[in-house]
Amino acid sequence: MADRPTIGIFGAGKVGTALARLLVDAGYDVALTGSPRQTALELLVSVVAPGARVSDAEQLVADSDVIVVAVPFGKVGTVPWPALDGKVVVDATNYWPPVDGHIPEVDADERTTSEIHAALNPAAHVVKSLNHLGYHDMEDDPMPPGSPLRRAIAVVGDEAAAREVVARIIDDLGFDAVDGGALANGRALEPGHPAFGRELSSSELARLLEAERTIAA
Ligand SMILES: NC(=O)c1ccc[n+]([C@@H]2O[C@H](COP(=O)([O-])OP(=O)(O)OC[C@H]3O[C@@H](n4cnc5c(N)ncnc54)[C@H](OP(=O)(O)O)[C@@H]3O)[C@@H](O)[C@H]2O)c1
Repeated sequence: MADRPTIGIFGAGKVGTALARLLVDAGYDVALTGSPRQTALELLVSVVAPGARVSDAEQLVADSDVIVVAVPFGKVGTVPWPALDGKVVVDATNYWPPVDGHIPEVDADERTTSEIHAALNPAAHVVKSLNHLGYHDMEDDPMPPGSPLRRAIAVVGDEAAAREVVARIIDDLGFDAVDGGALANGRALEPGHPAFGRELSSSELARLLEAERTIAA
């Protein structure tokens, strides 16, 4: 992987385009792939995320070191997980019943949703991140390193090297990355849990993740 990984985003919606804009501003090579329903995607991306490329799914996977999954929760299965062997995959999705409806298998599953997604391809290096802040916050809240009010974003995943890759990206976007350890610790970041949607400093976020770690142990 080059010093700056190439980033491919599945989902050119609110999160995908906001993230693409920030990544381009931070100097990353970024590609997006959208839904077949988005017939004017090149035009959309040229307006809302100038500098990002539009690719089909296969090309995006081939070109990218890091894949961001930013599709509706119910569409996660349409991402080509079997092709993601060896990729760092950022799961930015949330299970949000008011939008996604109640999915009985997910309600009955004790795993975090990112653990469920990681099981779709055990050879992918899944990191849960970016899911616990609103897309508008991604644009409004970045701050330079060392700013006392800089907001924190967690990275949790079962492989330290993958967490480190994502943490560097988060830092480049203008947030303090907090390493939360294993994917199972990501419960605190999910809707209805303590870190979701809250503006937290790195020490506050680390405390919430530590509490989750203690519960999970
Ligand atoms: N909105 C937020 O502030 C926020 C913040 C953090 C996390 N999230 C989570 O991030 C995910 C995306 O949220 P969003 O608000 O960006 O949703 P969105 O605005 O609906 O955008 C998602 C886009 O992904 C497309 N898509 C579906 N399947 C795809 C595939 N296989 N490949 C490429 N694109 C595909 C969708 O198309 P179709 O409409 O055709 O399905 C839609 O255009 C959700 O899981 C959400 O819970 C949202």
